Amino acid sequence: MSSTRNKLIKILEKTRNEYVSGQFLSEELNISRAAIWKHMKELEKDGYEIEGKSKKGYRILKSPEKLSENTVQWGLNTKWLGKKVIHKPTTASTQHIAHQLAQESAPHGTIIIADEQTAGKGRMNRKWHSTAGKGIWMSILLRPEILPYLAPQLTLLTATVLADVLSKDTTIEPKIKWPNDILINSKKTAGILTEMQAEQDQIQYVVIGIGINVNQTTSDIPENINSKATSLQIETNNAFDITNLIQHILQTFENAYDAYIKNGFPNVKDKWESYGFRIGETIQIKTIKKNWHATFLGIAEDGALLTKAEDEEIKRLYSAEIDW
Ligand code: BTN
Repeated sequence: MSSTRNKLIKILEKTRNEYVSGQFLSEELNISRAAIWKHMKELEKDGYEIEGKSKKGYRILKSPEKLSENTVQWGLNTKWLGKKVIHKPTTASTQHIAHQLAQESAPHGTIIIADEQTAGKGRMNRKWHSTAGKGIWMSILLRPEILPYLAPQLTLLTATVLADVLSKDTTIEPKIKWPNDILINSKKTAGILTEMQAEQDQIQYVVIGIGINVNQTTSDIPENINSKATSLQIETNNAFDITNLIQHILQTFENAYDAYIKNGFPNVKDKWESYGFRIGETIQIKTIKKNWHATFLGIAEDGALLTKAEDEEIKRLYSAEIDW
């Protein structure tokens, strides 16, 4: 979005319900009144209802429900996250666009969102179903100044952000299933895919892909996964405003990320464990070589799963298959 449009939105946001004169806007933004009018027409295309009255000026009557760069930025109270937002009605995967933009020097905090993904990617090369207009399909581009081996901490941090937002914005108690599935009533409602470009001791960029099933009904969930997957609407019988949820995620993410960069991982670990699914319980672990039972203790700083076996041995697991 142009910086002029950004400034225009900020002014209108501050003066919500009151008229702002074309003269005032034109002086503030240093553009002609005809240019102001053109910007208003662009906002209307995004679904804003704008009233323009001669002698009084402009005011916003209604913000749009549909997702756009403008609606995400409207009222977004962040310092660096989402200053650049790219919205696509449909795309193969927001991850692809994020990688492309990262190579083209897009800034830290760039957001890519889509109404629909035709080739959404999940972890382990799985497909991620991204029903049009019913979920949050978003990638966040970060350029963190941390060592590459610490990048998994960002995934764990993201999981805590999603859990925090869902527990505040809904009536349900989310859980995080290791490493980063968000469960509601033991079914998956959100997933995180972190991809990174790095040299040995320096991260070039990280792309955090977030997929949340929001307003799907049971018939929107593919049959082969409907015993394991759910949506916020299915679990609560309520429809959610996707733009509001995105803004809340961005605001919470920025705070959590800034705190992590300042204070390190311990608080993230504590928070993750406060949402951890089946912590303290016995789980069954399978590797190619053997099967065994152990108590799930929590997570280590590197994102590994910490377990205590029957012989009291404490193990860090990275890639075992777990029977939850
Ligand atoms: C998983 O649990 O397997 C991770 C799912 C991640 C899905 C999101 S949707 C937005 C972004 N774009 C993608 O193609 N994937 C991630």
